[in-house]
Amino acid sequence: MPNITFIEPSGDERVVDVPVGWSLMQAATSQGVEGIDAECGGSCACATCHCYVEGELAARVPAPGAGESSMLDSVAAERRPNSRLSCQIKMTPELEGLVLRIAATQT
Ligand code: FES
Repeated sequence: MPNITFIEPSGDERVVDVPVGWSLMQAATSQGVEGIDAECGGSCACATCHCYVEGELAARVPAPGAGESSMLDSVAAERRPNSRLSCQIKMTPELEGLVLRIAATQT
């Protein structure tokens, strides 16, 4: 099963196995990763699953859709070019080894 690395707001790194087809938010919250609130449960309506996609594998992540891009205007922490909502990224084998830094605050 492919894995990705979450960097929690504290700086701790968590390597998490993610079933293909799961959202990265699902993977994080189901395995106790700190810092993702996911108040809407993954329906792209809360912007509390904000992460920064880091490293050279970031280019493999499909671009955000219009709905996600609009919601990113509502994130509590700074929006950066690599900001994403982790509920909108689905795991694929190509994303093995991806690194997501969780935003310092979600609300
Ligand atoms: S969980 Fe609400 S926007 Fe991602």
